[in-house]
Amino acid sequence: MSSIERLGVDLGARSYEILVGSGLLATAGHCIKPLLKQPRVIVLSDRAVADLYLATLTRALDDAGIAHEAIIVPVGEQTKSFGELARVVDALLAARVERGTTLVALGGGVIGDLGGFAASIVLRGIDFIQIPTTLLAQVDSSVGGKTGINTTHGKNLVGSFYQPRLVIADIDALSTLPRRELAAGYAEVAKYGLIGDAAFFGWLEGHAAGLIEGDEAARQHAVLKSCAAKAAVVASDEREAGARALLNFGHTFGHALEAECGYSDELLHGEAVAVGMVMAFDLSARLGLCPLEDAARVSRHLASVGLPTTPAAISDRVWDPDRLIEHMQQDKKVQDGKITFVLARGIGEAFLARDVELHEVHRLLQGAIAA
Ligand code: NAD
Ligand code: GLY
Repeated sequence: MSSIERLGVDLGARSYEILVGSGLLATAGHCIKPLLKQPRVIVLSDRAVADLYLATLTRALDDAGIAHEAIIVPVGEQTKSFGELARVVDALLAARVERGTTLVALGGGVIGDLGGFAASIVLRGIDFIQIPTTLLAQVDSSVGGKTGINTTHGKNLVGSFYQPRLVIADIDALSTLPRRELAAGYAEVAKYGLIGDAAFFGWLEGHAAGLIEGDEAARQHAVLKSCAAKAAVVASDEREAGARALLNFGHTFGHALEAECGYSDELLHGEAVAVGMVMAFDLSARLGLCPLEDAARVSRHLASVGLPTTPAAISDRVWDPDRLIEHMQQDKKVQDGKITFVLARGIGEAFLARDVELHEVHRLLQGAIAA
C-alpha cells in the first residue's frame, strides 16, 4: 500500500487540503468528519460510480457517525445540463439540506462540476467535498473550484468559482477506470509538463506506459505532481485573471472539437485536449515560436498512450475549419472579440497569445483536418 500524501491549496480562509493515496475511500469518513458543520452529508454520484464505490463510502461514513443520503444522476457529459442541475437542486431541497449540510461529489469531472455548482447555489452556498474517481478529476477538475454546466452555446459557460473544503484522491479508484478514460485523463497530466515543467514531461515519457497499465507508484507520483502544479497556479490566480488561463492549454481547440461532437462519447474531454495540445504546438511551430521537433515530440508521446492527435483520429466525420473557429469564438477567454490562445515556445514554456491572426488558425485547422 502506498503512503498518503497531503498537499495544500493556499487560498487564505478558503484553503484546503488534497489527500492522495491508496485506501482513502474506506477511511474517508474520518478525514471528512472534522470539517463538517453538522454530521450529515449528501453524496452525489453517477450510476456507474455509485455501483462501484457508494457502498464503500457509505460504510466509511457510518464508521465515522456521519448521516448520509445519496443522489444518483445519469452517467456522461450530458448530465452537466440545466435539466440535471435543476433535478439535483430539487433533490437537495427535498432532502431538507441546511446550510450546515455538506455535499460530497463522488465521481469524475462531470459529478464534481455539477455537484460543486449545485452546492454553490443551494441555500446560497453549502460546503462541498470532492472525491474524484477518474484520473482527469484527480489531477485537474477536483482542484481549483471551477464548477459548472454546459449549454447549447458551449461548454462550461454557466458556473461559479466555488472551492471544495477537501479533495480526497484515492488512486485505487483508478483500477476500475476503462483504459480509454485513463488515457483521456492522462492528457491533463501531460498538460502540466507541457505548460510549465519540461522535466516532468521527460519523466512522463519514461513512465506513461506503466502509469496507464497500473503502476501504482507512477500513478501516485503523477497525481501528486499534477495537483501540486494546479494548486500553485490556483493559489496565484484563483479567478483566472492571468496565469490560470495557461491551464486551458489545448482547450480552445479541444472545446471546439467537443462542441462539434455534441459532447458525446465520440470524443472524451481529455481526448479533445490531446488533439488541442497538438494543434497548439503545431500552431506555435507554424508561427515560428517553437521548434518543430518539440511539436513532433508532443504528438508522438500522446499517440504512444493511444490518444488521438488529429481530428481524423477522432472520427471520420467531415470537419469544417470555419465551424471550429465559430465554436472557438464562444470561448470564455475571448476578449474584445479576439480569441486568446495558449501557445508554447517549447515543451514546458506555455504563454498567452492575444494577437494570433485567424487566417493562420484556419490554415492550421485545414492542415490538421487533412492529416
Ligand atoms: P466523467 O465524470 O464523465 O467520468 C468518465 C466516465 O468514467 C463516466 O462514465 C463515469 O461513470 C466513469 N467513472 C468514473 N470513475 C470511475 C471509476 N473509478 N471506475 C470506472 N468508471 C468510472 O468524466 P471526466 O473525464 O472525469 O471529467 C470530464 C469533465 O470534467 C468534463 O465535463 C470537463 O469539462 C470537466 N473538467 C472540469 C475541470 C474543472 O476545473 N472544473 C477541469 C477539467 C475538466
Ligand atoms: N482546468 C482549468 C482550470 O481549472 O483552470
